[in-house]
Amino acid sequence: MKRPLVELVGTGRYTPTKVLTNADFERMVDTSDEWIVERTGIRERHISGPTETVAAMSKFAAVQVLEQAGIGPLDIDAIVMGTASPDRLLPSSACDLQALLGADNAAAFDIQAACSGFLYGLTVAEGLVTAGTARHVLVIGAERLSTITDYTDRSTCILFGDGAGATLVRAVSDGRRGILASYLKTDGRLAELLYRPGGGGCHPPDERLLADRGYFIKMAGREVFKAAVRSMADACDQALSQAGLTARDVDVLIPHQANIRIIEATAKHAGMPMDKVYVNVDRYGNTSAASIPIALDECVREGRIREGSTVLMVAFGGGFTWAAMVVRW
Ligand SMILES: CC(C)(COP(=O)(O)OP(=O)(O)OC[C@H]1O[C@@H](n2cnc3c(N)ncnc32)[C@H](O)[C@@H]1OP(=O)(O)O)[C@@H](O)C(=O)NCCC(=O)NCCS
Repeated sequence: MKRPLVELVGTGRYTPTKVLTNADFERMVDTSDEWIVERTGIRERHISGPTETVAAMSKFAAVQVLEQAGIGPLDIDAIVMGTASPDRLLPSSACDLQALLGADNAAAFDIQAACSGFLYGLTVAEGLVTAGTARHVLVIGAERLSTITDYTDRSTCILFGDGAGATLVRAVSDGRRGILASYLKTDGRLAELLYRPGGGGCHPPDERLLADRGYFIKMAGREVFKAAVRSMADACDQALSQAGLTARDVDVLIPHQANIRIIEATAKHAGMPMDKVYVNVDRYGNTSAASIPIALDECVREGRIREGSTVLMVAFGGGFTWAAMVVRW
Protein backbone atom coordinates (compact mmCIF):
# COMPACT_ATOMS: atom_id res chain seq x y z
CA MET A 1 0.00 0.00 0.00
CA LYS A 2 1.20 3.49 -0.91
CA ARG A 3 2.41 5.56 2.05
CA PRO A 4 0.16 8.62 2.18
CA LEU A 5 1.97 11.88 1.49
CA VAL A 6 -1.01 14.18 1.60
CA GLU A 7 -4.02 14.41 3.93
CA LEU A 8 -7.46 15.98 3.91
CA VAL A 9 -8.16 18.29 6.85
CA GLY A 10 -11.55 19.78 7.71
CA THR A 11 -14.79 19.76 5.76
CA GLY A 12 -17.50 22.31 5.08
CA ARG A 13 -20.64 22.74 3.03
CA TYR A 14 -23.33 25.16 2.04
CA THR A 15 -26.69 24.46 0.48
CA PRO A 16 -29.20 27.17 -0.44
CA THR A 17 -32.28 27.59 1.74
CA LYS A 18 -34.80 27.44 -1.11
CA VAL A 19 -35.99 23.90 -1.81
CA LEU A 20 -37.80 22.56 -4.89
CA THR A 21 -39.80 19.41 -4.10
CA ASN A 22 -41.18 16.84 -6.51
CA ALA A 23 -44.61 18.38 -5.88
CA ASP A 24 -43.23 21.69 -7.18
CA PHE A 25 -42.11 19.93 -10.38
CA GLU A 26 -45.56 18.38 -10.79
CA ARG A 27 -46.79 21.96 -11.22
CA MET A 28 -43.97 22.92 -13.65
CA VAL A 29 -43.71 19.96 -16.09
CA ASP A 30 -45.55 16.74 -16.95
CA THR A 31 -44.13 14.50 -14.21
CA SER A 32 -45.04 12.89 -10.90
CA ASP A 33 -43.48 12.40 -7.50
CA GLU A 34 -43.85 8.65 -8.02
CA TRP A 35 -41.93 8.68 -11.35
CA ILE A 36 -39.11 10.84 -9.99
CA VAL A 37 -38.67 8.82 -6.79
CA GLU A 38 -38.81 5.46 -8.57
CA ARG A 39 -36.40 6.42 -11.41
CA THR A 40 -33.98 8.65 -9.49
CA GLY A 41 -34.53 8.48 -5.71
CA ILE A 42 -34.69 12.30 -5.62
CA ARG A 43 -37.30 14.00 -3.44
CA GLU A 44 -35.99 17.56 -3.25
CA ARG A 45 -33.10 19.81 -4.30
CA HIS A 46 -31.75 23.14 -3.06
CA ILE A 47 -31.90 26.06 -5.49
CA SER A 48 -29.77 29.19 -5.15
CA GLY A 49 -31.16 32.70 -4.82
CA PRO A 50 -29.65 35.79 -6.46
CA THR A 51 -26.87 36.25 -3.87
CA GLU A 52 -26.03 32.55 -3.56
CA THR A 53 -23.36 32.55 -6.27
CA VAL A 54 -20.82 29.75 -6.70
CA ALA A 55 -18.18 31.96 -5.06
CA ALA A 56 -20.48 33.00 -2.18
CA MET A 57 -21.58 29.44 -1.41
CA SER A 58 -17.97 28.29 -1.61
CA LYS A 59 -16.92 30.94 0.89
CA PHE A 60 -19.34 29.56 3.50
CA ALA A 61 -17.92 26.06 3.00
CA ALA A 62 -14.30 27.28 2.97
CA VAL A 63 -14.60 29.26 6.22
CA GLN A 64 -15.70 26.07 8.05
CA VAL A 65 -12.66 24.22 6.68
CA LEU A 66 -10.18 26.94 7.67
CA GLU A 67 -11.61 26.99 11.19
CA GLN A 68 -11.15 23.22 11.58
CA ALA A 69 -7.67 23.30 10.03
CA GLY A 70 -6.64 26.14 12.35
CA ILE A 71 -5.34 28.35 9.56
CA GLY A 72 -6.36 31.71 8.11
CA PRO A 73 -7.04 32.79 4.51
CA LEU A 74 -3.49 34.12 4.10
CA ASP A 75 -2.13 30.60 4.76
CA ILE A 76 -3.81 29.20 1.64
CA ASP A 77 -1.33 28.73 -1.22
CA ALA A 78 -3.80 27.55 -3.85
CA ILE A 79 -7.55 27.31 -4.42
CA VAL A 80 -8.73 24.58 -6.78
CA MET A 81 -12.41 24.79 -7.64
CA GLY A 82 -14.33 22.04 -9.42
CA THR A 83 -17.34 23.57 -11.15
CA ALA A 84 -19.30 23.15 -14.37
CA SER A 85 -21.52 26.16 -13.65
CA PRO A 86 -19.13 29.03 -12.92
CA ASP A 87 -20.48 32.46 -12.01
CA ARG A 88 -18.83 33.92 -15.10
CA LEU A 89 -16.99 32.43 -18.08
CA LEU A 90 -14.01 34.65 -17.31
CA PRO A 91 -12.35 34.78 -14.81
CA SER A 92 -12.69 31.51 -12.93
CA SER A 93 -14.99 31.29 -9.90
CA ALA A 94 -11.89 30.36 -7.88
CA CYS A 95 -10.59 33.89 -8.52
CA ASP A 96 -13.83 35.40 -7.21
CA LEU A 97 -13.61 33.14 -4.16
CA GLN A 98 -9.99 34.15 -3.57
CA ALA A 99 -11.07 37.81 -3.46
CA LEU A 100 -14.09 37.08 -1.22
CA LEU A 101 -11.97 35.08 1.23
CA GLY A 102 -9.08 37.53 1.22
CA ALA A 103 -6.76 34.64 0.39
CA ASP A 104 -4.21 37.07 -1.02
CA ASN A 105 -1.37 34.53 -1.22
CA ALA A 106 -3.32 31.88 -3.10
CA ALA A 107 -3.13 30.98 -6.77
CA ALA A 108 -6.69 30.19 -7.85
CA PHE A 109 -8.19 28.30 -10.76
CA ASP A 110 -11.19 26.21 -11.79
CA ILE A 111 -11.26 22.64 -12.99
CA GLN A 112 -13.93 21.66 -15.52
CA ALA A 113 -14.38 17.94 -15.05
CA ALA A 114 -18.15 18.13 -14.45
CA CYS A 115 -19.32 15.83 -11.65
CA SER A 116 -15.81 14.41 -11.22
CA GLY A 117 -14.44 17.92 -10.57
CA PHE A 118 -13.93 17.51 -6.82
CA LEU A 119 -11.92 14.28 -7.14
CA TYR A 120 -9.94 15.75 -10.05
CA GLY A 121 -9.32 18.81 -7.86
CA LEU A 122 -8.13 16.71 -4.91
CA THR A 123 -5.70 14.88 -7.20
CA VAL A 124 -4.32 18.16 -8.59
CA ALA A 125 -3.99 19.45 -5.01
CA GLU A 126 -2.13 16.28 -4.03
CA GLY A 127 0.31 16.98 -6.88
CA LEU A 128 0.80 20.63 -5.86
CA VAL A 129 1.62 19.63 -2.29
CA THR A 130 3.89 16.69 -3.10
CA ALA A 131 5.78 18.82 -5.67
CA GLY A 132 6.40 21.41 -2.97
CA THR A 133 4.52 24.08 -4.93
CA ALA A 134 1.93 24.60 -2.18
CA ARG A 135 1.57 23.78 1.51
CA HIS A 136 -2.17 24.36 1.90
CA VAL A 137 -4.58 23.81 -0.99
CA LEU A 138 -8.26 24.60 -0.54
CA VAL A 139 -10.30 22.25 -2.72
CA ILE A 140 -13.90 23.13 -3.50
CA GLY A 141 -16.72 21.55 -5.45
CA ALA A 142 -19.46 24.10 -6.10
CA GLU A 143 -22.34 24.33 -8.51
CA ARG A 144 -25.25 26.51 -9.44
CA LEU A 145 -26.74 24.06 -11.91
CA SER A 146 -30.12 25.80 -11.65
CA THR A 147 -28.67 28.56 -13.87
CA ILE A 148 -27.93 26.12 -16.72
CA THR A 149 -30.93 23.80 -16.28
CA ASP A 150 -33.83 23.91 -18.74
CA TYR A 151 -36.92 23.97 -16.53
CA THR A 152 -39.11 23.05 -19.52
CA ASP A 153 -37.24 19.74 -20.09
CA ARG A 154 -38.72 17.18 -17.71
CA SER A 155 -36.01 14.62 -18.40
CA THR A 156 -33.25 16.83 -16.93
CA CYS A 157 -34.78 19.54 -14.75
CA ILE A 158 -35.87 17.17 -12.00
CA LEU A 159 -32.29 15.97 -11.50
CA PHE A 160 -30.15 18.97 -10.61
CA GLY A 161 -29.52 21.13 -7.53
CA ASP A 162 -27.10 23.72 -6.18
CA GLY A 163 -24.55 23.75 -3.36
CA ALA A 164 -20.91 23.77 -2.35
CA GLY A 165 -18.51 21.63 -0.33
CA ALA A 166 -14.85 21.98 0.60
CA THR A 167 -11.79 20.49 2.27
CA LEU A 168 -8.11 21.35 2.70
CA VAL A 169 -5.20 19.33 1.35
CA ARG A 170 -1.79 19.48 3.08
CA ALA A 171 1.24 17.27 3.74
CA VAL A 172 0.51 14.41 6.16
CA SER A 173 0.96 15.12 9.84
CA ASP A 174 1.36 11.56 11.18
CA GLY A 175 1.88 9.24 8.20
CA ARG A 176 -1.20 7.13 8.96
CA ARG A 177 -3.91 9.26 7.39
CA GLY A 178 -4.22 10.64 3.90
CA ILE A 179 -4.76 9.80 0.25
CA LEU A 180 -4.00 6.11 -0.43
CA ALA A 181 -4.96 6.02 -4.10
CA SER A 182 -6.45 8.16 -6.82
CA TYR A 183 -7.66 7.24 -10.28
CA LEU A 184 -8.77 9.61 -13.07
CA LYS A 185 -10.18 8.70 -16.46
CA THR A 186 -11.81 10.44 -19.45
CA ASP A 187 -13.55 9.47 -22.69
CA GLY A 188 -14.03 12.64 -24.73
CA ARG A 189 -15.66 10.74 -27.60
CA LEU A 190 -18.86 10.62 -25.56
CA ALA A 191 -18.96 14.36 -24.87
CA GLU A 192 -22.25 15.01 -26.62
CA LEU A 193 -24.23 12.61 -24.49
CA LEU A 194 -24.12 15.16 -21.68
CA TYR A 195 -23.23 18.73 -22.66
CA ARG A 196 -24.17 22.34 -23.25
CA PRO A 197 -24.19 22.85 -27.03
CA GLY A 198 -23.87 26.64 -27.05
CA GLY A 199 -22.48 29.64 -25.30
CA GLY A 200 -18.81 28.83 -25.94
CA GLY A 201 -16.57 29.54 -28.94
CA CYS A 202 -18.15 26.88 -31.20
CA HIS A 203 -21.54 28.50 -30.87
CA PRO A 204 -21.26 31.97 -29.34
CA PRO A 205 -24.43 33.50 -27.90
CA ASP A 206 -26.89 34.55 -30.59
CA GLU A 207 -30.64 34.51 -31.15
CA ARG A 208 -30.62 30.90 -32.35
CA LEU A 209 -28.97 29.83 -29.11
CA LEU A 210 -31.81 31.36 -27.13
CA ALA A 211 -34.44 29.85 -29.44
CA ASP A 212 -32.84 26.35 -29.31
CA ARG A 213 -32.31 26.62 -25.55
CA GLY A 214 -28.79 25.46 -26.43
CA TYR A 215 -27.38 27.28 -23.44
CA PHE A 216 -28.81 24.61 -21.13
CA ILE A 217 -27.65 21.09 -20.23
CA LYS A 218 -28.71 18.45 -22.78
CA MET A 219 -28.51 14.80 -21.88
CA ALA A 220 -29.17 11.38 -23.36
CA GLY A 221 -30.31 9.95 -20.02
CA ARG A 222 -30.33 6.24 -20.75
CA GLU A 223 -26.86 6.21 -22.39
CA VAL A 224 -25.44 8.33 -19.57
CA PHE A 225 -26.96 5.96 -17.05
CA LYS A 226 -25.27 2.92 -18.59
CA ALA A 227 -21.90 4.66 -18.89
CA ALA A 228 -22.13 5.90 -15.30
CA VAL A 229 -22.67 2.38 -13.93
CA ARG A 230 -19.81 0.98 -16.05
CA SER A 231 -17.37 3.78 -15.25
CA MET A 232 -18.01 4.00 -11.52
CA ALA A 233 -17.49 0.25 -11.25
CA ASP A 234 -14.19 0.57 -13.15
CA ALA A 235 -13.06 3.47 -10.95
CA CYS A 236 -13.82 1.60 -7.69
CA ASP A 237 -11.85 -1.44 -8.88
CA GLN A 238 -8.87 0.62 -10.03
CA ALA A 239 -8.59 2.77 -6.90
CA LEU A 240 -8.99 -0.17 -4.51
CA SER A 241 -6.40 -2.23 -6.36
CA GLN A 242 -3.99 0.73 -6.42
CA ALA A 243 -4.45 1.07 -2.62
CA GLY A 244 -3.96 -2.69 -2.16
CA LEU A 245 -7.37 -2.92 -0.48
CA THR A 246 -10.63 -4.77 -1.01
CA ALA A 247 -14.22 -3.64 -0.46
CA ARG A 248 -14.10 -5.27 2.98
CA ASP A 249 -11.45 -2.75 4.06
CA VAL A 250 -13.67 0.21 3.19
CA ASP A 251 -15.75 1.75 5.98
CA VAL A 252 -17.71 4.27 3.90
CA LEU A 253 -18.39 4.51 0.17
CA ILE A 254 -19.30 8.02 -1.01
CA PRO A 255 -20.55 7.76 -4.58
CA HIS A 256 -21.45 10.79 -6.69
CA GLN A 257 -25.11 11.43 -5.95
CA ALA A 258 -26.79 11.36 -9.37
CA ASN A 259 -29.39 8.63 -9.14
CA ILE A 260 -30.12 6.02 -6.44
CA ARG A 261 -30.15 3.25 -9.06
CA ILE A 262 -26.63 4.18 -10.22
CA ILE A 263 -25.51 4.30 -6.58
CA GLU A 264 -27.00 0.86 -5.84
CA ALA A 265 -25.43 -0.64 -8.97
CA THR A 266 -22.03 0.82 -8.03
CA ALA A 267 -22.27 -0.56 -4.50
CA LYS A 268 -23.32 -3.96 -5.78
CA HIS A 269 -20.40 -4.11 -8.21
CA ALA A 270 -17.95 -3.00 -5.52
CA GLY A 271 -19.36 -5.64 -3.14
CA MET A 272 -20.35 -3.05 -0.56
CA PRO A 273 -23.57 -3.46 1.49
CA MET A 274 -25.81 -0.38 1.30
CA ASP A 275 -25.31 0.35 5.01
CA LYS A 276 -21.72 1.33 4.15
CA VAL A 277 -22.87 3.59 1.31
CA TYR A 278 -23.67 7.24 1.98
CA VAL A 279 -26.82 8.46 0.24
CA ASN A 280 -28.25 11.98 0.24
CA VAL A 281 -29.45 12.18 -3.37
CA ASP A 282 -33.02 12.24 -1.99
CA ARG A 283 -32.36 15.62 -0.33
CA TYR A 284 -30.08 17.38 -2.84
CA GLY A 285 -30.47 15.74 -6.25
CA ASN A 286 -27.38 15.87 -8.45
CA THR A 287 -25.13 18.78 -7.45
CA SER A 288 -22.33 17.71 -9.81
CA ALA A 289 -18.89 18.67 -8.43
CA ALA A 290 -20.46 19.67 -5.10
CA SER A 291 -22.03 16.28 -4.54
CA ILE A 292 -19.09 14.39 -3.01
CA PRO A 293 -17.77 17.20 -0.75
CA ILE A 294 -21.30 17.88 0.59
CA ALA A 295 -21.67 14.17 1.37
CA LEU A 296 -18.17 14.03 2.86
CA ASP A 297 -18.98 16.89 5.22
CA GLU A 298 -22.25 15.25 6.30
CA CYS A 299 -20.48 11.93 6.94
CA VAL A 300 -17.83 13.60 9.10
CA ARG A 301 -20.34 15.66 11.07
CA GLU A 302 -22.65 12.66 11.59
CA GLY A 303 -19.69 10.60 12.86
CA ARG A 304 -19.96 8.07 10.03
CA ILE A 305 -16.38 8.98 9.12
CA ARG A 306 -14.06 9.05 12.11
CA GLU A 307 -10.32 9.15 12.57
CA GLY A 308 -8.91 6.01 10.94
CA SER A 309 -11.95 5.39 8.69
CA THR A 310 -11.16 4.19 5.18
CA VAL A 311 -13.25 6.10 2.67
CA LEU A 312 -13.78 5.33 -1.02
CA MET A 313 -15.12 8.21 -3.11
CA VAL A 314 -16.21 7.65 -6.70
CA ALA A 315 -17.59 10.01 -9.33
CA PHE A 316 -18.80 10.13 -12.91
CA GLY A 317 -19.79 13.07 -15.08
CA GLY A 318 -19.90 14.92 -18.38
CA GLY A 319 -16.88 14.50 -20.61
CA PHE A 320 -17.24 11.68 -19.86
CA THR A 321 -14.96 11.89 -16.87
CA TRP A 322 -14.76 9.47 -13.99
CA ALA A 323 -12.60 9.14 -10.91
CA ALA A 324 -12.13 7.44 -7.58
CA MET A 325 -10.04 8.09 -4.50
CA VAL A 326 -9.27 6.09 -1.36
CA VAL A 327 -8.56 8.14 1.75
CA ARG A 328 -7.70 7.12 5.29
CA TRP A 329 -9.37 9.76 7.47
C1 LIG B 1 -32.82 10.58 -16.65
C2 LIG B 1 -33.27 9.25 -16.10
C3 LIG B 1 -33.79 9.40 -14.69
C4 LIG B 1 -34.43 8.75 -16.97
O1 LIG B 1 -34.84 7.49 -16.52
P1 LIG B 1 -35.02 6.29 -17.54
O2 LIG B 1 -35.54 5.17 -16.76
O3 LIG B 1 -33.72 6.10 -18.27
O4 LIG B 1 -36.12 6.85 -18.48
P2 LIG B 1 -36.07 7.13 -20.06
O5 LIG B 1 -35.19 8.29 -20.36
O6 LIG B 1 -35.82 5.86 -20.77
O7 LIG B 1 -37.56 7.57 -20.29
C5 LIG B 1 -38.64 6.70 -20.02
C6 LIG B 1 -39.92 7.47 -20.21
O8 LIG B 1 -40.08 8.42 -19.14
C7 LIG B 1 -40.33 9.71 -19.68
N1 LIG B 1 -39.81 10.72 -18.77
C8 LIG B 1 -38.60 11.32 -18.80
N2 LIG B 1 -38.51 12.21 -17.78
C9 LIG B 1 -39.67 12.14 -17.11
C10 LIG B 1 -40.18 12.79 -15.98
N3 LIG B 1 -39.48 13.70 -15.29
N4 LIG B 1 -41.41 12.46 -15.55
C11 LIG B 1 -42.16 11.55 -16.18
N5 LIG B 1 -41.73 10.90 -17.28
C12 LIG B 1 -40.49 11.19 -17.73
C13 LIG B 1 -39.66 9.70 -21.02
O9 LIG B 1 -40.23 10.68 -21.87
C14 LIG B 1 -39.93 8.31 -21.51
O10 LIG B 1 -41.23 8.27 -22.01
P3 LIG B 1 -41.58 7.36 -23.29
O11 LIG B 1 -41.25 5.96 -22.87
O12 LIG B 1 -43.01 7.64 -23.50
O13 LIG B 1 -40.66 7.86 -24.38
C15 LIG B 1 -32.12 8.20 -16.14
O14 LIG B 1 -31.85 7.85 -17.49
C16 LIG B 1 -30.88 8.72 -15.51
O15 LIG B 1 -30.83 8.97 -14.33
N6 LIG B 1 -29.78 8.83 -16.30
C17 LIG B 1 -28.52 9.29 -15.81
C18 LIG B 1 -28.61 10.76 -15.57
C19 LIG B 1 -27.45 11.26 -14.80
O16 LIG B 1 -27.13 10.75 -13.78
N7 LIG B 1 -26.84 12.32 -15.32
C20 LIG B 1 -25.78 12.96 -14.69
C21 LIG B 1 -24.57 12.12 -14.75
S1 LIG B 1 -23.38 12.77 -13.68
